[in-house]
Amino acid sequence: MASGTGQRIFLTGATGFIGAYVLRAAIATGHEVDALSRSKSNADALISPGVKVIAGDLSDREGAWREAVRKADAVIHLAQPQTFGGRVTKERARQYCLRRLDMDRALFEAIDPAKTRQIVYVAGTSYYGDCGPEIRNETAVPHPRGWGPYLAPAIESLPDYVARGLPIVAAFPGWVYGPGSWFAQYVLEPLRDGRPVYGLQGPPRYTSPVHVEDCARALLHLTGHGEIGSRYFIVDDLPVPGERLAEIAAKALGVRGHGRKLPFALLKLLSGHVIADSLAYENRLSNHRLKSTGFSFAFPSCEEGVPNAVQQWLINQSDRNR
Ligand SMILES: NC(=O)c1ccc[n+]([C@@H]2O[C@H](COP(=O)([O-])OP(=O)(O)OC[C@H]3O[C@@H](n4cnc5c(N)ncnc54)[C@H](OP(=O)(O)O)[C@@H]3O)[C@@H](O)[C@H]2O)c1
Repeated sequence: MASGTGQRIFLTGATGFIGAYVLRAAIATGHEVDALSRSKSNADALISPGVKVIAGDLSDREGAWREAVRKADAVIHLAQPQTFGGRVTKERARQYCLRRLDMDRALFEAIDPAKTRQIVYVAGTSYYGDCGPEIRNETAVPHPRGWGPYLAPAIESLPDYVARGLPIVAAFPGWVYGPGSWFAQYVLEPLRDGRPVYGLQGPPRYTSPVHVEDCARALLHLTGHGEIGSRYFIVDDLPVPGERLAEIAAKALGVRGHGRKLPFALLKLLSGHVIADSLAYENRLSNHRLKSTGFSFAFPSCEEGVPNAVQQWLINQSDRNR
């Protein structure tokens, strides 16, 4: 089924950074969305034509959300325990891992494979982690880094669920930048306030970013075009050194901007092991498989995408200050 032909989509993580864009893209292309949220105030912000807000917590095995899931043509699963903000220690990441596994299990148990044609499971490229200097595809041997080791148990459970009949397609977004989440907190706000953007000492390490709008459109696209049991990287055409995103953002904001490169031990002290490790490896990935399904990017590189994200962020800021 094409992704623009009016499916009923059950969306977890609808109130999150990427989920908000998936919701918008889904409604704009004529889908109906059952959008899950645990919080009444978050959920109220989702109310719009084509959206049915489902109050619920994936950890609640008896929740009414289970009925909505059973009616879905497609499920896009973005919900995750909180990741960013504050220091991310290994212990915090271990708790994340356990909670994520539990949420996945609850969701998968509730899905009716006779009704639901596609489940797009959203993972992350930190699972592939250290890929060295070559551009890799989805068949590369993973060397999880950063959040990757804590995502690995969930990702490695997916083949068992597929074997049990669940139509899962696994999506691996790279560094998803846009006018919120980590990009606002660690890059845009420091640039605006004249604070340094922290990085890791040593040679530039390449990473594979993607604009949040492209990421959202790609997830929606995979509900119609992804092959069950396959993995898809959602990344720009070309990897870039991690600090390039801040350089482009500084230019778009019209500020000089200064990066401050710290040794691993100091970065770890400031932000925790997991975040420090997220900056410590090379991850150059190919979007060839995604493009071969017919997907095209609105922002194929961060040279085009970051100025757009900055513009959106500035508009949000001035709306908030009004
Ligand atoms: N952001 C990135 O750069 C990036 C990169 C690669 C991959 N990813 C992956 O993309 C996915 C979404 O990331 P994001 O940054 O958009 O997430 P996010 O902003 O942290 O949002 C998390 C969402 O999960 C929901 N949630 C948390 N616990 C829940 C529970 N027990 N039951 C139901 N819903 C729950 C929250 O909804 P309520 O609080 O409203 O209930 C919220 O909407 C994640 O799987 C992440 O690993 C993200």
